[in-house]
Amino acid sequence: MRTNERTVATRIGWALALTILAAGASILTACRQSANAEPVQMIPGADAQRGAADIAAIGCGTCHMIPGIKDAEGLVGPPLEHWSRRTYIAGEVPNTPAMLIRWIETPQAIEPGTAMPNLGVTEQRARDIAAYLYTLR
Ligand code: HEC
Repeated sequence: MRTNERTVATRIGWALALTILAAGASILTACRQSANAEPVQMIPGADAQRGAADIAAIGCGTCHMIPGIKDAEGLVGPPLEHWSRRTYIAGEVPNTPAMLIRWIETPQAIEPGTAMPNLGVTEQRARDIAAYLYTLR
């Protein structure tokens, strides 16, 4: 390679490196924005405060750590902190309000054999509980 060719090659190399860096940076920014812009999931007719009371009454906290619920410090299931930012439910289905309500009513229907038992939670209670979990940012 003559000096000129080497210079051109070096320039192309730098240009490529910069392009790749810029692309990487914009992907990172996009990820961060989507994490911050996460909307609070709305469940029509549900009452998060009632949900918190139900969580305590049913005893979800014997198996889960749940912020804001007294004595909810169980370690059998995963901690439910930051729930509104979680992507999956039990690694099985997307974390959407409809799926979460179903999970709370009948986890065994979504993942047969899971260690979380069906607890006989009614749909209205499941909606209230889901509303509470989505307040956990
Ligand atoms: C007997 C223990 C037990 C009780 C009681 C229990 N869970 Fe669970 N729960 C689990 C286990 C274990 C898992 C993990 C299931 C899996 O990944 O297959 C789980 C998973 C979950 C998940 C998904 C967690 C994740 O990280 O994806 C949510 C949400 C949840 N439970 C909510 C509740 C609510 C609300 C109640 C009360 C109505 C409750 N659980 C009661 C054991 C329990």
